[in-house]
Order: sequence, then structure tokens, then C-alpha cells
Amino acid sequence: MKHFTIALVPGDGIGPEVIAEGVKVLKTIEELDSELSFSFTEFPWGCEYYLNQGKMMDDDGINQLRHFDAIYLGAVGYPGVPDHISLRDLLLRIRKSFDQYVNLRPVLLLHPSFTPLKDKAEKDIDMLVIRENSEGEYAGTGDWLYKGKPEEVVLQTGVFSRKGTERIIRYAYEEARRLNKTLTSISKGNALNYSMVFWDEVFEEVGKEYPDVTTYSYLVDAASLYFVSDPERFEVVVTSNLFGDIVTDIGAGITGGLGLATGANINPEKDYPSMFEPVHGSAPDIAGKGVANPIAAIWSVSQMLDFFGEETWGKVVLDTIKGLTVETENLTPDLGGKATTNEVGDRFAEKLKEKWVEKR
Ligand SMILES: NC(=O)c1ccc[n+]([C@@H]2O[C@H](COP(=O)([O-])OP(=O)(O)OC[C@H]3O[C@@H](n4cnc5c(N)ncnc54)[C@H](O)[C@@H]3O)[C@@H](O)[C@H]2O)c1
Repeated sequence: MKHFTIALVPGDGIGPEVIAEGVKVLKTIEELDSELSFSFTEFPWGCEYYLNQGKMMDDDGINQLRHFDAIYLGAVGYPGVPDHISLRDLLLRIRKSFDQYVNLRPVLLLHPSFTPLKDKAEKDIDMLVIRENSEGEYAGTGDWLYKGKPEEVVLQTGVFSRKGTERIIRYAYEEARRLNKTLTSISKGNALNYSMVFWDEVFEEVGKEYPDVTTYSYLVDAASLYFVSDPERFEVVVTSNLFGDIVTDIGAGITGGLGLATGANINPEKDYPSMFEPVHGSAPDIAGKGVANPIAAIWSVSQMLDFFGEETWGKVVLDTIKGLTVETENLTPDLGGKATTNEVGDRFAEKLKEKWVEKR
């Protein structure tokens, strides 16, 4: 019997609504597979906590999370708390403290009707974006000088260390080799004459150890265009923190929206827990209405299971998602359906049981 401990940080807005459905999936798996069990510990951190306690998480929050096998996070941020506080003091704090330097964001078209692009099928949009997740443009380094004065100056410094740059690029080469896919680096060396010239050099340098991997290198502006006009160019993609954040939202746009976009924050060495979360935010415009799409959060469960070494289950969950996407009546309004978040989760659990029986 394998047991995994999971820290739940449902967070704000639709976060708790979608995490509840992901937990439902894990509990269904437990029911079906006598070899697997999970325990859940929930933490109330987020914007409401901030408004009551003056902080986004407990002072020793990082220590409280340290010994879990994984963290399952909903979304953070809500009107009433400045976004830079909610994001930095909870989400980015966890990513940084646990050195979750790899952000894995699959961009995969599950059904042709989900893309606004003309004549694109599943085979045309199937990439894995590997985003640097620990430094770069989100390092939080800079200064705000002469605040409020006419000579006011702000500095936001990108931090690209050799260690940080090399390890993410090496991870991407390894993934491309393992998957037997091409690797594309997205950067901006023509304008960012220190950080991105360095990035390009490291990409080339590390590449010498991987002569079997076919590589491409694009400027981020051209890459953004190709994501829309020609997504089949991309298989495995490696890029910086900011560029990865942006191009994966384009990725979500061409594959059905934020309700279908997932991301895993990985510490590959497993020195610390990794964190699994949908890419979307707390969606205050639909929070509390019961219409949030839980599929992105459920896809995070698939990534979590892969990370636990339970790839068979990871695949069963992903295949079940694919199967569900043809049942429009059982999807949420963002995908053209009328189902509630809870109904999607219930239908998913039903289908998961069917898929498991079929597989055995
Ligand atoms: N990882 C995170 O926790 C994270 C990520 C992005 C934004 N945020 C925070 O979330 C708050 C809202 O940000 P935003 O509005 O820019 O982004 P958002 O992702 O919350 O919402 C953008 C749009 O997508 C829709 N949407 C998002 N998820 C959906 C889902 N599961 N089902 C159906 N529709 C969905 C929303 O209704 C909204 O119209 C802000 O406070 C922001 O800082 C947090």
C-alpha cells in the first residue's frame, strides 16, 4: 500500500470550488485501487485569512508544509487585497522556499471544438512548456526611489544565475530526449542584451551534450505569433519565468481557455514538496456561482499522480478528461455546457470508474 500526504491550500474565489472536485477524484481513485491511499490536510490561507490576520499564511507556514508529499493549490488573489501581496506572500513564497524551479505547463488540444483556430486538430497543438519558476523576471529584485516625487524611478531587475538557467535548460533537454521530441527555446536576446544573450548562450552550451535533440530558438514576439498561426512548430518549449507565464496563457487561449490549463511546480530532486495547481486565478467574476470549470484542477491531479510515480493513474485521469470533453451537456458554460462545477466532478468520477474497469 502506498500512502501520499497532500496539503490542500484551496485559497480564494473559485479555488475551493475546483479543489473540492480534484479531491473527489483522488478519493475515487482510493476507492478503486486498494494499493493507493491519500490523506488531506487543509490550510485556510489566502486573502480572507489576510484580511483577518494581516498575513497570507502562518509565519511558520513553510515549515508546516515541508513534510507533505505534495501541495494542491486552488487560486490566490481577491479584490480587497493587492495582487502583488497575495501572489508574493503565498504562491511565490511557496514556489521559492521549496525551490520548485520547474513549471510544467502542457498545452494540449483535447477536442477540436475548443480551439478558436481554423482547421487545427488535436495533433497540431500538443506541447509541453517548461517555464523557469524560481528567478528571472519574477525574482522580486529592484527598488522604488523618490516615491511620489517628479524624479521617481522604479527598478525591476531580472536575475538569471548560471545555476538557475543551466538547470532549467538541462531539465528541458532531458525531457525532450526522453519524449523524443524537438526542443524550442524562447528568449529575447536582441533587446535584453544581458539576461537573454546569456540564456541563449547557455541553451547552446548545454545543447552540446544533447546532439540527438533537434532544437529551435525563437524571439518571444515571433513565438507568440507562431503559437497562434503555427502551433505545430512546438513540441517541448523552454523559457523564462515571465515569457512562460505569458505564452502559456496564449496556449490556454488556443486550447479552450483557462478552465483547461494546468501547471505543476516541481522540485525535481524531491528535497521539498512540489505543488500542483490550475493555471487560472480566483475568477472573482464567477466565484460562488458554481460554474467554474474544474477540469484544469483535475488535470493537476493527473500531473500529481505522474509525479508520485503513478503514471498509469495519471494517464487514466487524462484519458477520462479527454472522454468527458465530448459530452458537452456535462461541461461547464465556458465550454458550451450547462453543468455546474459539482456536476462535472460527479460525472468525472463516474467516467473514471468506467475507464478503470475497462482498463483492467
Ligand atoms: N495561480 C494563481 O493563484 C493566480 C493566477 C492568475 C491570477 N491570479 C489572481 O486571481 C485574481 C483574478 O485574476 P484574473 O481575473 O486576471 O484571472 P482569472 O484566471 O481568475 O480569470 C480570467 C478569466 O477566466 C475565467 N476563468 C478562470 N478560470 C476559470 C475556470 N476554472 N472556469 C471558467 N472560467 C474561468 C474567469 O471567469 C475570468 O473571466 C487576481 O487576484 C489575480 O492576481 C491568481
